[in-house]
Amino acid sequence: MAELVVALDFDDALDALNMATVLRGQISWVKVGLELFTMEGPRMLHSLKGLGYRVFLDLKLHDIPNTVSRATLACAKGGADLITVHLMGGEHMCRAALDALRTAPSRPLVFGVTVLTSLAEGELPGCQQSLPDLTRTLADHAEHWGLDGVVCSGRECAAIKAQHPDLRCLTPGIRMDYDGADDQKRVMTPAQAVASGSDFLVVGRPITRAADPVAAAAAILADMNAPF
Ligand code: C5P
Repeated sequence: MAELVVALDFDDALDALNMATVLRGQISWVKVGLELFTMEGPRMLHSLKGLGYRVFLDLKLHDIPNTVSRATLACAKGGADLITVHLMGGEHMCRAALDALRTAPSRPLVFGVTVLTSLAEGELPGCQQSLPDLTRTLADHAEHWGLDGVVCSGRECAAIKAQHPDLRCLTPGIRMDYDGADDQKRVMTPAQAVASGSDFLVVGRPITRAADPVAAAAAILADMNAPF
């Protein structure tokens, strides 16, 4: 059963907690990203977990292995349930992140970011491969290096799942037909993403900027559960 994760892309705790409170009971997962974490820090995770949420801390770590290893352990100590590292950080960096968690009080899921859903074909500097090929190559590495899943667009899920059925896929770039794409390029509807095998659908603005976030979330959940 795929999970809807709502991205709390706000710049202060009050707005984020208000939204989390409004959506309570509808969803189990929320995402804390760079903006909110930079402004409010680890106490945000504590507050959201206090509301009963599981927290995806999406810092997309990408640095030298030592730095990523220490940051990964810090994320785990802060209570994150799911974290992200960039697969383009390479094998040593990704394995260092996993090794760091051996001493963690609890073990968050670690997903590797393949290619951002805001990038279209030809927009990744120096890349000779097509984006679907590059995404599949990176997913192969993710499995081999021992990560729990990958972040990809819904468009790449089916091919990744065909190759790696146990590797979980988390897909941003989710839009209903009537929504604008904003800065996302490789988008899919919730129903399409679920049909393609996505395990976690991440949605931000279509819910958090909607006039009625509860109705927007309900429509997305209904689409996720509709037979495709
Ligand atoms: O508002 P929207 O639904 O586009 O938000 C998508 C969320 O997913 C954002 O918080 C963004 O940081 C995140 N994300 C993404 N693409 C990735 C990884 C994460 O859009 N590859």
